[in-house]
Amino acid sequence: MAKKIVTDLHVNGKKVLMRVDFNVPMKDGKITDENRIISALPTIKHVLDKGGRVIAFSHLGKVKDSSDLESKSMAPIAARLSELLGKPVTFINATRGTELEAAVANLKDGEIMMFQNTRFEDLEGKKESKNDPELGKYWASLGDLFINDAFGTAHRAHASNVGIASNIGEGNTAAGFLMEKEIKFIGGAVDAPERPLIAILGGAKVSDKIGVIENLLVKADKILIGGAMMFTFFKALGKNTGKSLVEEDKVELAKSLLEKSNGKIILPIDTVVSKEFSNDAPHSVVSVDSIPNDEMGLDIGPETVALFTKELASAKTVVWNGPMGVFEMANYAKGTIGVCEAIANLTNATTIIGGGDSAAAAISLGFADKFSHISTGGGASLEYLEGKKLPGVESISNK
Ligand code: 3PG
Repeated sequence: MAKKIVTDLHVNGKKVLMRVDFNVPMKDGKITDENRIISALPTIKHVLDKGGRVIAFSHLGKVKDSSDLESKSMAPIAARLSELLGKPVTFINATRGTELEAAVANLKDGEIMMFQNTRFEDLEGKKESKNDPELGKYWASLGDLFINDAFGTAHRAHASNVGIASNIGEGNTAAGFLMEKEIKFIGGAVDAPERPLIAILGGAKVSDKIGVIENLLVKADKILIGGAMMFTFFKALGKNTGKSLVEEDKVELAKSLLEKSNGKIILPIDTVVSKEFSNDAPHSVVSVDSIPNDEMGLDIGPETVALFTKELASAKTVVWNGPMGVFEMANYAKGTIGVCEAIANLTNATTIIGGGDSAAAAISLGFADKFSHISTGGGASLEYLEGKKLPGVESISNK
């Protein structure tokens, strides 16, 4: 069922609660990747331009005890948001109480405020993460309307998304533009793709991707597999994997996925091996049929990049999740770069990166604008690709 989007609500003069996912990586109090903030700007600007009063909020990390209060504060993020918007963002260092309520009451049309990390409410009884009914009701009472633009959190049923949506009143919740885009691209690729749909899955573990592989075996025309999880599949095929990472307890599962695959799964044919998990150690390219006993595979090889490029050439829809090798080390990044290039060169296809490491890889390697869509979701995009219903999306009002 189609969901309401921000343009379906009349925001002028209204107090608009806005859930964003500003759970961004930080180092020494500085934001190291602000993609999620940039991606939320269109919705925020739209509501401000239309005279709405924006009350923005997000979680940041997991909050376990009071030692997290400083490192998980939203203050530096509110400051950066203010710079990006070119207007003041009033930051309230609280998640409830009189100071917060007064700030909401003083907010004028076209102004924005942000309150503290929603997971500070987890310090006493996990109120946010367990969707405490009183908390969702309280937050909903602060606003007239609720915009959910936090796709990255859509796989969680927390007080700051589902809790507010169920208390703000019938028809008063809408998706932001980012949420709308994520639903359109990822949902569209899984539910009604233009074919052929080719999925590329990488990353270290088969166990992280079981649900995705199972769903895509039904939905996709081909699944290209790279990353360390290829070695669990090779083990299932009886190949020698040397010192490569293998999930021994998933070998039988890999075997059954290959049996079910009907030739849809395409595995690498060569790999870059080294004796050590180090960028500086000597390395070489070998066939996947001759991995030496004392070496480990750390990337897909050039023949595999050529094979995957050829397979991708006919794709009309591409979904990619998970790097092809240890891309953080330059000597093992070529497979991931090669796949990035192959997808970037497809001019006639919808191309989607399903968040997490592969999105970070594509952005850091300079391919950010070469894809139709780079998801801001990690776990959320994986669960969406698994075909699961996301509570954050489900709780948005229907049109
Ligand atoms: C994410 O980064 O995947 C989202 O912000 C959700 O965070 P969480 O896994 O801590 O719930």
